[in-house]
Amino acid sequence: MRQPKAPSPDSCAAESGVPGTVPVLELRDLVTRFPGDDGPLNIVDGVNLAVATGETLAVVGESGSGKTMTFLSAVGLVPPPGRVVGGQVLLDGTDLLTHTREQMRAVRGTRISMVFQDPLTGLNPVFTIGEQIAEVLRAHRDLSRAQARKTAIELLERVHIPDPGRRVDDYPHQLSGGMRQRVLIAMAISLGPRVLIADEPTTALDVTVQAQVLELLAELREETGMAMVLITHDLGLVARHADRVAVMYAGRVVEYGTAEAVFERTAHPYTQSLFRGVPSLDADCAGDLIEIEGQPPDPEFLPPGCAFEPRCFLGQGRRDCQATRPGLRPAVGKDHQSACLHSAELTATRERA
Ligand SMILES: Nc1ncnc2c1ncn2[C@@H]1O[C@H](COP(=O)(O)OP(=O)(O)O)[C@@H](O)[C@H]1O
Ligand SMILES: [Mg+2]
Repeated sequence: MRQPKAPSPDSCAAESGVPGTVPVLELRDLVTRFPGDDGPLNIVDGVNLAVATGETLAVVGESGSGKTMTFLSAVGLVPPPGRVVGGQVLLDGTDLLTHTREQMRAVRGTRISMVFQDPLTGLNPVFTIGEQIAEVLRAHRDLSRAQARKTAIELLERVHIPDPGRRVDDYPHQLSGGMRQRVLIAMAISLGPRVLIADEPTTALDVTVQAQVLELLAELREETGMAMVLITHDLGLVARHADRVAVMYAGRVVEYGTAEAVFERTAHPYTQSLFRGVPSLDADCAGDLIEIEGQPPDPEFLPPGCAFEPRCFLGQGRRDCQATRPGLRPAVGKDHQSACLHSAELTATRERA
């Protein structure tokens, strides 16, 4: 784990939630809506998040909780008929939601990049990887073919693809899954973005390759100082790589804080259920999120109160939980928020234990 950064006088502590870090990317009250059977559904429902230079924010939550859609919203790639209908996406203080399509296209890749789970869908089978990297470069920079090829080889080297001078002429199918993911990472960082969003970047890979890809991402983050968002199911990865953690449920962030706070002073029963069996930040634990009894909520049928109440060991059947859908509020400890009416009970239980 990296040490928390020292506070600085010009920090945006109140807004970013972590002292001494000025956010590079900040989502404020982000709402993304899709049409449902009985009217619009807020698939992303008022998300607030921030990530600072050189920092990794891990975003965890069951499948369908809105992790991918939150960040597709941030980079302007929500599939129609979905639409961002509210909030702000601040990149170095500029709201990307005010950008035109054209402006967004210019920002994607150069200032903010996203890498997805399946490395095959991101690559075109009929072009060599060198041609594809060169195309990204030449779309945004004034480079000759020869210069672009040279830069492509350098980028392959940076993501530790062996023999890059030869590999540059390979087609995607000639590479392993891990190597393809490295190529996509090379493309994503080729223009020096401020933020790299990696959406379950290793889910399709086997365990040793997963670790190597994550090592690479950590190394690139250190080298470049870019901010990183790591969307993942793997709590071992969260423990090893994240500075901060956001836990999502039903389109909302329900717990948010430093990795230490979220692991050691878990303040939402949903997080606690996910983390069961993951003892602490220092333990050498690896593993996927634990399955929680009951189904994640269908966005068409969200309960009126807390969306987790029907599955919650703490709040199930409690009238206040059924009546109120709580927003994020300060939890025990610094830089820590929870959207649970009874988080104090939870923390108390943990401390007694
Ligand atoms: N293209 C789409 N149209 C309508 N709803 C979608 C679409 N893609 C995802 N959803 C819904 O949005 C919600 C959040 O999905 P997603 O962001 O992919 O979750 P996660 O990444 O956490 O698994 C889910 O309920 C899912 O069914
Ligand atoms: Mg997803």
